[in-house]
Amino acid sequence: MSSFWHPFSNMAAVAGSELVIDRGDGVYVYDIDGKRYLDGTASLWYANIGYGRDEIGAAMAAQSARLAAFHTFGDFANPAVLQLADRLSGLAPVSGSKVFFTSGGSDSVDTAAKLTRRYFSEIGQPDRTVFIVREWAYHGMHAYGTSFAGMRPNLDGHGPMVEDVVRVPYDSVDYLMDTIDLVGPDRIAGLYCEPVIGAGGVRPAPAGYLKQARRVVEDAGALFIADEVITGFGRVGDWFASSRFSLEPDIVTCANGVISGYAPLGGVLVSPRVAEPF
Ligand SMILES: Cc1ncc(COP(=O)(O)O)c(C=O)c1O
Repeated sequence: MSSFWHPFSNMAAVAGSELVIDRGDGVYVYDIDGKRYLDGTASLWYANIGYGRDEIGAAMAAQSARLAAFHTFGDFANPAVLQLADRLSGLAPVSGSKVFFTSGGSDSVDTAAKLTRRYFSEIGQPDRTVFIVREWAYHGMHAYGTSFAGMRPNLDGHGPMVEDVVRVPYDSVDYLMDTIDLVGPDRIAGLYCEPVIGAGGVRPAPAGYLKQARRVVEDAGALFIADEVITGFGRVGDWFASSRFSLEPDIVTCANGVISGYAPLGGVLVSPRVAEPF
């Protein structure tokens, strides 16, 4: 039996019956016996440009030979990080966004949550700590993301997690408004919103929901955080779903679609207004 711990799996059920994927080429992957599969899900929705792209491998090899990594605390930077940040800022739904790099989607979600609470603390509204999340939501498995889970099995058995999280149906603006009134608009930090719910069952929002929800959150003085880990980088026909649906989010979280899974990478795109106090 393999020592490998399969995430999101009943390990007894998969023990000894793994489907071992060995290589990929374009939209196809091949198992160790050479059997070919059409990768209709793009792995788990991040292999946006397909497998076996030599130019990416070559760029990664050249960069790692030149400078594999170097920290960026304080005033340190490197050409790659500066270029990519500018490129992403140019593609961001809100122009002039700042780019905070992370190691993936869960990391982006937790970073965005901390930035949101810290933003309100910085502008003199420290009581805005409450996050609203939608049923069926999936925002990753770090501490905030687990607390934001819209699916019970992801939440159960962990004991008390991040406080001040309230859940609303994924499709009702009225319920969202009532919830904001109930909690108190001046307590709301933000709404986390997947423009198209992914892991929770591929649920597009009802027509009009996203723009209305965005406006309701803005009227409450809170932030609209678009979790575009799945929808980013072309999956819904624009670079970001927020652009396609004209949402002008305060913050966008994104992940491995940016590099099609060739390396772990994510980012938080922070609108100029939210970045300003920092
Ligand atoms: C909407 C959303 N947010 C966050 C995450 C977590 O991303 P990661 O698996 O890169 O940590 C996912 C993963 O699928 C996701 O679908």
